[in-house]
Amino acid sequence: MAKILITGGTGYIGSHTAVEIFNAGHQYIIVDNLSNSSIDVISGIEKITGVKPIFFNIDLKDKTLTEQFFNSHSDIDSVIHFAAYKAVGESVQEPLKYYENNLLSLINVLENIKLHKIKSIVFSSSCTVYGQPNKLPVTEQSPILKADSPYGNTKQISEEIIQDFIKSNNGNCKAVSLRYFNPVGAHESAEIGELPLGTPNNLVPFITQTAAGIRAELKIFGNDYNTPDGTAVRDYIHVVDIAKAHVAAINRLLNHHNKSDFEVFNLGTGKGNSVLEIVKTFEAVTGIKLNYRITERRPGDVEQIWANTDKANIELNWKTQTSIGESLLTAWIREKKYRRI
Ligand code: NAD
Ligand code: WQD
Repeated sequence: MAKILITGGTGYIGSHTAVEIFNAGHQYIIVDNLSNSSIDVISGIEKITGVKPIFFNIDLKDKTLTEQFFNSHSDIDSVIHFAAYKAVGESVQEPLKYYENNLLSLINVLENIKLHKIKSIVFSSSCTVYGQPNKLPVTEQSPILKADSPYGNTKQISEEIIQDFIKSNNGNCKAVSLRYFNPVGAHESAEIGELPLGTPNNLVPFITQTAAGIRAELKIFGNDYNTPDGTAVRDYIHVVDIAKAHVAAINRLLNHHNKSDFEVFNLGTGKGNSVLEIVKTFEAVTGIKLNYRITERRPGDVEQIWANTDKANIELNWKTQTSIGESLLTAWIREKKYRRI
């Protein structure tokens, strides 16, 4: 059993990971400043696990507060670093806010990892680092293209910062960077899920809110892509499968099974689904007819991307277990529970 710090642990992926870290028998502490999550998530996790999580409301941009936290928790074995801003569009409008938050928080965490001789970190990266790859499915060796957004750039720079940090640390610290494709769905209990703040940018929350009557219609952004049905293709992966991959990554690091001090893994299903396929699957599993309309393409969208997951499947001994239909159903059940409908 190890003690894991989960930064951003009241967020969407962090909260699901906290549950799986608990299920795997580890102890954990959550640090989050609630800038994009709610304190209610703590009771959601408690309802699932039966144990109230230890939680600290700390802004990791704040060097002093971060130092104080680590000074009073010197027995942390490993860190899973989720804390970051993630809205692509907002990052284009307010780039400095994104560079400041995502990079300063990471640097403060790494400084304390060094100071307190913490042995490992798992970092939340994104398939956005690949842009539109020339070859599909995309492997970890695929080139990193110039980022389309400041948000995407923070992920690229963060990976570089971590690599430099690991190199400078003479083998005292190891890192795994997990590049998530499109996380969707919620815990089967529906006690936790994606927090719907404002109008969703992502497809699945937009679908569930349309089904719930909160949005009048779903706009499908473009049907003239070079894909089988003309709509864009992504690799949608259930959030609990992503959470379980973090357990696999943590155990790999704790058990010294890593092959190098900095490793990267794609987290996807290995299968692409078009926007129309997602809509049709949602309708099939829920029995709800969605009001949707084809509109023009969304600027900045890539046409198609899905993951080659061989490396994660073999090295992490991890595979996705949830079908896209099941994933969408959990998203809908969570939406209904949250809205009390
Ligand atoms: P989220 O916004 O739900 O969770 C992030 C959490 O970090 C939030 O609870 C927020 O309050 C917290 N946070 C942000 N800045 C902080 C700070 N300075 N100090 C303390 N806490 C802070 O997002 P998520 O979807 O759970 O994403 C988690 C991580 O995964 C992020 O790093 C994100 O960039 C990355 N990621 C997400 C996706 C996705 O589609 N959801 C895809 C790829 C990568
Ligand atoms: C999926 C598909 C849209 C909404 C984003 C970030 C990426 C990563 C995951 C963090 C696209 C289409 C969407 C709608 C639609 N996050 N769509 N109507 O764009 O693949 O990735 O989230 O790292 O960095 O860019 O996800 O869910 O926004 O879109 O037709 O109302 O659904 O055009 O083809 P995306 P998404």
